[in-house]
Amino acid sequence: MNESEQLRTLAVDIGGSGIKVMVLDTEGNPLSDRQRLKTPNPATPEKVIDVILTLAKEQEYDRISVGFPGVVQNGVIKTAVNLHDDWLQYDLATSLSQLLSRPVKVANDADIQGLGAISGNGVELVITLGTGFGSALFVQGKLVPNLEMGHHPFRKRETYEEQLGRAALDKHGARKWNLRLEKAIACLDHLFNYDTLYIGGGETKQIKLDLPASAKIIPNVTGLLGGIKLWTN
Ligand code: BGC
Repeated sequence: MNESEQLRTLAVDIGGSGIKVMVLDTEGNPLSDRQRLKTPNPATPEKVIDVILTLAKEQEYDRISVGFPGVVQNGVIKTAVNLHDDWLQYDLATSLSQLLSRPVKVANDADIQGLGAISGNGVELVITLGTGFGSALFVQGKLVPNLEMGHHPFRKRETYEEQLGRAALDKHGARKWNLRLEKAIACLDHLFNYDTLYIGGGETKQIKLDLPASAKIIPNVTGLLGGIKLWTN
């Protein structure tokens, strides 16, 4: 094994309710337990970065992958609907890299979750059900970055996120949310004609539907495990 094969990657997943980290080996296998702290409120860049620094202090690593719940281009945050407006245009990759003195790559959280889940065959769509509604699209394993289905109209003049985000789940309850999810899956199937749909995120535990054969629930840890792919893809 040469030196570059032994690099340790700190995978960070910034969510609307929790910030999680885990150290991965070069193949993407966990080298540490998953650690989690609450997302601060207000979730400004300074406060969120403080939490990341606290979590990172406990770990040994050579480079960092970050999943962010918004559009990310070249390490810069373009949208942050469920965090704080101070994130807009914030260069998270450069800031973190300066603070931690290690190389940093940042991508959309659903894109990273997808990178950890897909098989690389055909059209694969990923949706994540948490605070927000995340989405990621892959064609033969190639990512179409920053697909933002969550903020597109779905039904009753509301977006997917308004109908299926955590606020809607809390307000309307699991039964109604499951009926909506069933409609969303059918709608996305008609739109994308995917071969496989992966469903991730903390609220997958609320799913009570008989899912179609093309749909699979993926574990939450995929949002961290996919972080390794930012360095290999
Ligand atoms: C954001 C997406 C993100 C999703 C899940 C949405 O509100 O716009 O970029 O992937 O939440 O965190």
